[in-house]
Amino acid sequence: MLGDCSLAALSRRKSHKWRTYPPDVLPAFVAEMDYTLAEPISDAIRAALAIGDTGYPHPGELGAAFASFTASRFGWAPRADWVFPVPDVMTGIAEVLSATTPPGSGVVISPPVYGPFFFRLGYIGREVVQAPLRSLGDGGYDLDLDELDRALARPDVSAYLLCSPHNPLGQVWTAGQLLAVADLCLRHDVVLAVDEIHAPLVLPGARFVPFGSLDHEMAARAWIFQSASKGWNLAGLKCGVAVAGSADGAALLTERWEALLASHLGVIATVAAFTDGLGWLDAAIAQIDENRRLLARLLAERLPLAGYVPGAASFLAWLDCRGLGLGEDPAATFLDRGKVALTAGAYFGDQGAGYARLNIGTSPELVAEAVSRMAAAVAAVARQPGGTLSDAAL
Ligand SMILES: Cc1ncc(COP(=O)(O)O)c(C=O)c1O
Repeated sequence: MLGDCSLAALSRRKSHKWRTYPPDVLPAFVAEMDYTLAEPISDAIRAALAIGDTGYPHPGELGAAFASFTASRFGWAPRADWVFPVPDVMTGIAEVLSATTPPGSGVVISPPVYGPFFFRLGYIGREVVQAPLRSLGDGGYDLDLDELDRALARPDVSAYLLCSPHNPLGQVWTAGQLLAVADLCLRHDVVLAVDEIHAPLVLPGARFVPFGSLDHEMAARAWIFQSASKGWNLAGLKCGVAVAGSADGAALLTERWEALLASHLGVIATVAAFTDGLGWLDAAIAQIDENRRLLARLLAERLPLAGYVPGAASFLAWLDCRGLGLGEDPAATFLDRGKVALTAGAYFGDQGAGYARLNIGTSPELVAEAVSRMAAAVAAVARQPGGTLSDAAL
């Protein structure tokens, strides 16, 4: 179902992942997966093309398909008529925050977090206010509710943008943590946007709690964003999902539909994913689950001084490379010396210095190849004149 992720086939792709670096570099950076497209999705797109159905989008069955997906997976079904297609999650977030917060006001985020949270807020003229996650010292992180409280109390702050599950950690927040966030947002009377784009890829052993399912006043006030784009690798088809928690929220999204036009083929693909793509999704989840265990084993064998706490969701591995002697930007060394492209930790905020993010949404063979290349890079640096690494780092 997922294909074999052969490099010969993948290198024919023309997407960002496969066109950014020369052919001798293994790309493991941007959040695209390497699997073969789910058949129900390619069938739906082919059927649309066959009848020339390539016009403007209509939400059609999107709301019902999304609600039935979230009901079956997470036990929560939003009102279908409060579910809206958007071109992508970041555009949906930017448009909603533009509409609901004053120009120049502050939006709080909790880094290390998805890089565009920083610059997309800048593009819409909002100030980024950081309430960093608390590092637990053992490789884990937690929401820092005191920091968040302080940040939300600032008079110039108008909103909080929460990532749940969290990228790059793959952390799944508990109902208790989400309720604490809800309390703070209510108390400080701020807009809350929740980016749940990685929710479809919650892995075995974890329970994802949709913010909209909380028994809390903020559940109706929050703006929820999900998508099939990460779960089924559809980012290029341009369709995300915005969920309003109230009639007023739905009215705002209805009014702004011209600014939020998704791709029609994206809507068709997304409906197919949420209705007929669950078998494929389960196969992808099983593969990523296997890959996170494989990665932990290979790192222990080949790069024992790299820190890795396997994520509870999605296909992105947050690697603490500070013990490897590669400085603030280990991804630069992995690229230069090992010909494997990871995402630099600093993309997720200053807190990411010394870290790198590895994409494991691929085959076990390519996960192993990535680790081999990373280990070769570390060995090359250690061997160079003045190399500071002890043998233990290798
Ligand atoms: C947390 C998060 N939000 C948003 C996006 C981007 O999604 P979209 O292309 O729908 O804007 C990503 C992509 O990796 C992501 O990880």
